[in-house]
Amino acid sequence: MSLLGQSKWNVAVIGATGAVGREMISILEEKEFPVAKLRLFASEKSFGQTLRFRGQELPIEVLAKDHLAPFENIDIALVSVGSRISQEFLPLIAERGTVCIDNSSAWRMDPDVPLIVPEVNASALSGFRQKNIIANPNCSTIQMVQVLKPIHDAYQIKRVVVSTYQSTSGKGQKGIEELSKQTIALLNQKEIKTEAFPHQIAFNCIPHIDQFDEEGYTFEEKKMMLETVKILEDASIRVTATCVRVPVFSCHGESINIETERNASADEIRALLSQTKGLKVVDDPTKNLYPTHILGVNQDDTFVGRIREDHSVENGVHLWVVSDNLRKGAALNAVQIAGALSREFL
Ligand SMILES: NC(=O)c1ccc[n+]([C@@H]2O[C@H](COP(=O)([O-])OP(=O)(O)OC[C@H]3O[C@@H](n4cnc5c(N)ncnc54)[C@H](OP(=O)(O)O)[C@@H]3O)[C@@H](O)[C@H]2O)c1
Repeated sequence: MSLLGQSKWNVAVIGATGAVGREMISILEEKEFPVAKLRLFASEKSFGQTLRFRGQELPIEVLAKDHLAPFENIDIALVSVGSRISQEFLPLIAERGTVCIDNSSAWRMDPDVPLIVPEVNASALSGFRQKNIIANPNCSTIQMVQVLKPIHDAYQIKRVVVSTYQSTSGKGQKGIEELSKQTIALLNQKEIKTEAFPHQIAFNCIPHIDQFDEEGYTFEEKKMMLETVKILEDASIRVTATCVRVPVFSCHGESINIETERNASADEIRALLSQTKGLKVVDDPTKNLYPTHILGVNQDDTFVGRIREDHSVENGVHLWVVSDNLRKGAALNAVQIAGALSREFL
């Protein structure tokens, strides 16, 4: 089905009941995305539920192989289910003509699937028809490449060392609930249950997100390392990461150390990032001004502060980045991709 010439789109949110899916629905409404008709999909568990969009209660439909006909009529699917479901269903949906924008890690490293942060590499979208699938990068990768891209263009990045401080909503609804329940239980001197995370998360930090590989890295760390190189299209950049879950509900923070080919002062980096779309520099130590996790909640922008030179290497800079993982890290980035598509390519 050709999408050319349309001014409104039939949109599906798949995984609508999840942390990212709910945020997608709210962003579609808030940004007045030109939706003709919205359909919502989730698992059998959610059958019978409704979710509100533009003042109307929309039913949740079950994503199932015998219920794919609706996709003949859907232009864009914003998908936020796990990798396994995504791998199973997206080819079936995409072959019906629906462009799938996927939040899972299932398709990110596929050479025929663009991996997109619109402010960074929108031009890579042009290849999306190969599979009719576009991947949203990992939430931690998105906020990092937003900062790395302008620095790389101006000063040529050689090496990046990143440590993350990631919120529990990064683990979806069950992550949000676990922090909440454990905090209440501990403050009431009751037993806690640990299900979503490998250890107690309330009043604790856990240096373990996703599974470990044979080298001792976690998949979350590997995603940041590999996705960054794909998005910046430069295999010479070396990236290493340590990912840590911290007991906050929203936003990921990242301490990023960047080594460049050409010398840059902290003031030059501050000026460069201040002019970059999607970033807001909050950086005045004399007034205790720097981004905290709370500052980023529900915001579209990614916040940068603590910009300083690193004199332990020839050309180095340190900085601190905070972004809302459910918004720019997932739902907002996906809606922005849909927006870029509808304007430029469809
Ligand atoms: N949370 C983040 O910050 C973040 C950021 C970037 C990317 N992502 C990725 O986005 C995806 C969703 O994450 P989330 O945080 O929103 O998780 P979540 O809160 O656990 O939501 C998962 C969603 O998937 C649906 N689902 C599960 N099994 C299904 C099935 N068999 N068929 C149809 N729908 C099914 C669930 O529906 P039911 O409610 O009916 O079970 C729910 O709507 C994951 O791949 C995650 O890695 C998340």
